[in-house]
Amino acid sequence: MTNQGAPVRAHVTGWGRYVPDQILTNADLEKMVDTNDEWIVTRTGIRERRVAAAHETTASMASVAALRAIRTAGLDPDDIDLILLATLTPDYWMPSTAALVKEAIGNTRAAAMDVAAACSGFVYAFSTAQAYVTSGLAKHVLVIGAELLTRFLDYTDRSTCILFGDGAGAVVVSASTEPGGSLGIELTTEPQGAYMIWLPAGGAKSPPSRETIARGEHYIRMEGRETYRFATRTLASTALESVRKAGLEPDDVSLFIPHQANIRIIEAVAKGLNLPMDRMFVNLDRYGNTSAASVPIALAEAVNSGRVAVGDNVCIVAFGAGFTSGAATIQWTADPSRGIAGDASVRASDVHVRLPIDWDSVDPIPAALAELMARDPLHIPLDDVVPGEPEPAHREVHA
Ligand code: ACO
Repeated sequence: MTNQGAPVRAHVTGWGRYVPDQILTNADLEKMVDTNDEWIVTRTGIRERRVAAAHETTASMASVAALRAIRTAGLDPDDIDLILLATLTPDYWMPSTAALVKEAIGNTRAAAMDVAAACSGFVYAFSTAQAYVTSGLAKHVLVIGAELLTRFLDYTDRSTCILFGDGAGAVVVSASTEPGGSLGIELTTEPQGAYMIWLPAGGAKSPPSRETIARGEHYIRMEGRETYRFATRTLASTALESVRKAGLEPDDVSLFIPHQANIRIIEAVAKGLNLPMDRMFVNLDRYGNTSAASVPIALAEAVNSGRVAVGDNVCIVAFGAGFTSGAATIQWTADPSRGIAGDASVRASDVHVRLPIDWDSVDPIPAALAELMARDPLHIPLDDVVPGEPEPAHREVHA
């Protein structure tokens, strides 16, 4: 560290992402529910989303993204002091998914915990990382957003099942006395919206039972219009507050990286901030809403695609169940070119989350998706690929 005596700041030094190979298109959904591509594209902007394979879990996707972020930062897994994992779809109620990730990435030192703030979870976890780093409690914090939402959707409910997809993104937040890094954070929670997006059963209020399953209460429920109203009202104001706390104005921010829920919501943010749409990063057409994973996947893609340069101010902003919202304005200081090599250095098949030896899960693939998961030759188990042999041919994935 340099600049002795200067305050410690929280810099993003690593970033990585992972999305499963299987694509669920709007045309696929047309065969499952009464919907159509035109409705989905015009009302949401989503064209396709990813679906995790049977051998994948939130922890496995998180571990791949996490290792990629650690490599991008030029660190070893054991350099990480704290692992924060934002998710609303943990592998289990306990242990935390963060604990599983710690083992899978080969870290022996870190404290690990999950953060629950739905789609705002990554920004909440990022703000926690900043607090740990600037207070001196941690030097390198791994912040992950990971979701496996396609196993919690009611594929007879066209108002929700078209929206969500699976994936993971991660950053490393590191202490430095250099200027820049995270400059301003704003978080809000409005519990009057608590039951606008929720998953009714499985918790202490309504433990899982035959009855809760018969009632479909183990699936995500959402009042779309109310959620839409909250998002359009809150996202721009939360972003603006974060930007102002950073001592900046919206025009000083070269790229906003909003939660990827709906293109119309992102357009409303641009309008609310009086900025053109080219200041908003959008990839929801390819992934849909990946909840807590959406912002870190978008951040990694924005940096890797050349949309962020050293010295740029970027603002990550999200909203979600709770109702929650959160934004962080960051002055970018890391070499953007490191991300692509970091991503390439970790193969999903190299990462394993340990399972108990005396237990195996049921088939986790929802019946409505079984045909889709069976049809793609990509779903040869990755363990069957002989090292050095070419990967099976598959459709082009947007890296
Ligand atoms: N295909 C075709 N028609 C549909 C579909 C569909 N998939 N879904 C709903 N419709 C119909 C409705 O039944 C309704 O028909 P009606 O007028 O005959 O009753 C009509 O389309 C309009 O429905 P609305 O709900 O008013 O549609 P809206 O324009 O609001 O779009 C949407 C719905 C996309 C869900 C929107 O409200 C939205 O994006 N809301 C925000 C959701 C969101 O961002 N959630 C994030 C959650 S964050 C977290 O923490 C998980």
